[in-house]
Amino acid sequence: MNPIIIEDHLFVLHTQDTTYAFRVIETGHLEHLYYGQRLHATEGLVAALGLKSSYVPGNTIAYHASAPSLSLEALPQEVSTTGKGDCREAFVITQDALGRRTSDFVFKTYTRHQGLGPNPVLGDNEALPLPHDGARAPFDEGVETLCIFLEDRVQGTTLCLTYTVFYRANVIGKRATLINTSDKSIRVERLMSNQLDLSHHAYELIHFGGAWAREMDQHRTPLSRYEQLGSQTGTSSNRCNPFFMLKAPRANEDFGDCYGFNLIYSGNWISTLEVDAFGSTRVLQGVRPDTLSKALKPEAVIETPMAIMTYSATGLTNLSHQMHRFVQHHIVRGQWQYRVRPVLINSWEAFYFNVQDKKLLRLARRAKALGVELFVLDDGWFGDRDSDTRGLGDWQENLKKLPRGLEGLAKDIHALGMDFGLWLEPEMVNEDSKLYRQHPDWVLRIPNVDHSLGRNQLLLNLGLKEVTDYLYEVLADILEKAPINYIKWDMNRIVSDVYSPALEPSIEGQQALMHRYVLGLYHLLDRLTRRFPQVLFEGCASGGNRFDLGMLCYMPQIWASDNTDAHARVAIQKHYSYGYPLSTLGAHVSDVPNHQTLREAPLALRQTVASFGLLGYEMNLLTLDGTALKAIGDHIDFYKTYRQVLQFGDFYRLNPEENPELEGSQAFMVVDSEKKRGVLGLMQGLTTANRPQLRLKLKGISETTTYRLYNRHQQYSLRVFGDLVNAVSPIPLPKGSLRFKVAEQLYPIAGETFDLVAQGSILMGGGVRLPQAFIGMGYKDSVRLYQDFASRLYCVEARQIDEGL
Ligand code: DGJ
Repeated sequence: MNPIIIEDHLFVLHTQDTTYAFRVIETGHLEHLYYGQRLHATEGLVAALGLKSSYVPGNTIAYHASAPSLSLEALPQEVSTTGKGDCREAFVITQDALGRRTSDFVFKTYTRHQGLGPNPVLGDNEALPLPHDGARAPFDEGVETLCIFLEDRVQGTTLCLTYTVFYRANVIGKRATLINTSDKSIRVERLMSNQLDLSHHAYELIHFGGAWAREMDQHRTPLSRYEQLGSQTGTSSNRCNPFFMLKAPRANEDFGDCYGFNLIYSGNWISTLEVDAFGSTRVLQGVRPDTLSKALKPEAVIETPMAIMTYSATGLTNLSHQMHRFVQHHIVRGQWQYRVRPVLINSWEAFYFNVQDKKLLRLARRAKALGVELFVLDDGWFGDRDSDTRGLGDWQENLKKLPRGLEGLAKDIHALGMDFGLWLEPEMVNEDSKLYRQHPDWVLRIPNVDHSLGRNQLLLNLGLKEVTDYLYEVLADILEKAPINYIKWDMNRIVSDVYSPALEPSIEGQQALMHRYVLGLYHLLDRLTRRFPQVLFEGCASGGNRFDLGMLCYMPQIWASDNTDAHARVAIQKHYSYGYPLSTLGAHVSDVPNHQTLREAPLALRQTVASFGLLGYEMNLLTLDGTALKAIGDHIDFYKTYRQVLQFGDFYRLNPEENPELEGSQAFMVVDSEKKRGVLGLMQGLTTANRPQLRLKLKGISETTTYRLYNRHQQYSLRVFGDLVNAVSPIPLPKGSLRFKVAEQLYPIAGETFDLVAQGSILMGGGVRLPQAFIGMGYKDSVRLYQDFASRLYCVEARQIDEGL
C-alpha cells in the first residue's frame, strides 16, 4: 500500500480501487489529470492525460506572454480563481486592501503526513474544531494526507489544499486553508472545499431532497449547463441533502462509472456542477460563500470543512458500499461505532406532549414484555411544556408530570431492565421561557425589527461561547444526575433574522454568523460526547433536516424523517441508503392511520420497512390487541436475531428497473460480510391484477455457497377477503356481522410457506420465482397474498449454518 506517489511535479493518490492525479505545470498552476479507476503505473500518465494545447481557443485569455498557449479557462485545474482568464465558477475569491479581486495561485511546496496529519497551518485563529479533526487515531489506519501549498501572485496570500486518502474506503477527502500572508486585511468572499474538473460532461446528476416529512426525494437530471445544489436553512437541510452522485448515463446499480460526493458539515452549503465551453464539468463543493465570507487580518487563517469523494467503476451499489464503509469507519466514532443499537420505544407519537410518569411506565412495561430495550421519553417532560408554544430552554423536569423527577423515572425504567433515553432540543428557546426572559440577547434576532418564528421558537446563538458553556453545564448536569443512556438531540426550526444582538453591531462583528454557529455546535457536541462517551446520541432536526456527515461525527445515528408512514419510508430510506449506511438511519413502526399521511399500512409492511434501519416502535402499545402485540414481540425477536446484519451488513437495492417483475414493489437485501446470512425484504406499493410471476435476482451472496431461503410467516385475517369469503363459505358471513367477527377469530389464514435450498449462483444469476400472488382465481395456502402495501421478509442462510457444520 503506497497511497501517495510523488514524482517530479506529478502527484498521484491511490486508494485501493481508485486513482486521483494532478501535476504542477510550468507556470506553477495545478493541472488536474485524472480521477477514476485504479491506475497501476505513473509512466506515461502525464503524456497520456495532460492537456495538449498549441493555441489558446478563440475568445479566451492567454495566461501570459511566456505561456501563450495556456488558457486557464480550458485547463482542468485543482484550484481555480477569478481574474486570470478562467471564467468558470471559482474555488477561491478574495479581495485585498487595494480592492483587487484577481488571484493567481501557483505551487510553492508540499508536505505529506500519516493519517490526517497535523493540521498544517491552523494556528490560534481558529479555536473551534471542525468535525473531521476528530477522525484521528485509531481511525488513522490506511489514511495519508498530502498538503499542497500555493501562493497568490497577486494578493500575496497562501492557500493550502489538503488531500486525505482513505485507502480502504476508496474515498478522498479535500479541504482548504487560506492564510493571509499579505500585510493587510483581505476579505474572503469564497473558499470552497473541493474542486473536481472532470474531462467531459456525459453524466447524469442524482441528488436528493424534499421538505419536512418528505425527505430524500430522488432527482435525476442529465448535466446540461449548470446545476446548483445547496442549503440556506442554516442546517444541511431536508430541502437538499449534501450527498449527491454523478453517473454515466447508462450506469446502474451494478454497472458503470459513478462518483459520489458529500461534505462533512452541518450548515449552509453549496455544490455547483458546471459544464464549461469546452465540454468539461467542474464540480465545486463547500460552505455557502455568503455563510463563510469574512475579513482576514494579516496572518489570520480560515479553514473549510472536508469534502469527500468516491468513485466506482462498477455502479451505484459499490459506490454506496464505499460510502457506507467510510461513514462507519471514519465518520461515526466512539463506543457505539460498531455496536448494535438497541430496539427502542419512543413516547412521541404515543402521547405527544401529554406525558405523565404512570402512563410512561405502563408503556415501558408493555414494551419491555415485547423485547424493547430502550425507553425514550420525547418532548413534553420539562418546564411548562404542554404544547410547542412554551418551555423550550427550561431543561428542568416538570414535577407535575414526573413527580419523582427525571432521576426517579430513569431509575424506574432501569428497574424494569430497560435503558432510559431523553429528548432535548438544546439549540432553541421559546419566547415564553425562563431562559429567554433571562437572556434575550442570546438568540438570533435583529433589534428593533419584528422577528419571525419557526414552530414558535428562536435559535440560541451557538456562536457565543457563553451560550455553549451554559448549555454544556446544563446538559452535563442532566446527564450526571439521572442514569441516561441515550439522548435524542432535536432541532426544529430553520434560520431567519440572522443577527446577534450580543455581538458588535458592525459588518465585521456579525460576519460568518451561521458558520460560527455550526462551529459552536460542534464544539459543544465535542465536549459532551467526550465527557459522556457511553451515551448514544441520535440526531434529529424535524426528522432529516440535518442528516449529514458533520452530525454523524458526534451522533452515530439520526432520525431519518418525521414521516413514519411505511410506504413513504420505503423511498426515504432507500434514498438515504445511496450515501448513508443503515446503521445511521432511525426507523420506527408507528400506528395506523399514520399520523403524517393517514394511510393504513399493514403492520407487516411497517415492520419490514423499519427492519431496514435502526428499529424502534413509536406508538401507544397499551391500546393494541393481543394479535398485534404478539406480532410485535415476534418481530422484535426476529430483528434481534438478524440485527447485526440488518444494521451493519452490506445493503443492496433490488430495483424495479433491474427486476422488471417487481413493478410497484421495492426490494432490499442485506448480507453479512462473510456472506453467510442475509435478509431480503419485499415491499409492495399498489398491486396489479393478474401480474406476472415475480422472479427476483438475489444479490450479495456467494455464487458457490448453497443457501436456504425461507419466508417469515404471516398470518392474515378473513377481513383481507371481505365479502369474497362468501364465495366459498358454507354459511353466509355478512361483512361486519358478529358471525364474521367470530369466524375471523376462529379461522386466521396462515400465509404461504416458502422454503427452498439452492446455490447462490442460481439465486443470483437465475433468480428465484416466488409463490404466485393472489390473482382473483381462488385461494390456496400456496398463494402469496400480496395486496396493496403487502410485504415479505425472507431469511437467507448459508446451508452450513443450518446443518451446524
Ligand atoms: C420533531 C421530531 O422529529 C419528533 O420526532 C419529535 O421529537 C418532535 N420534534 C418533538 O417536539
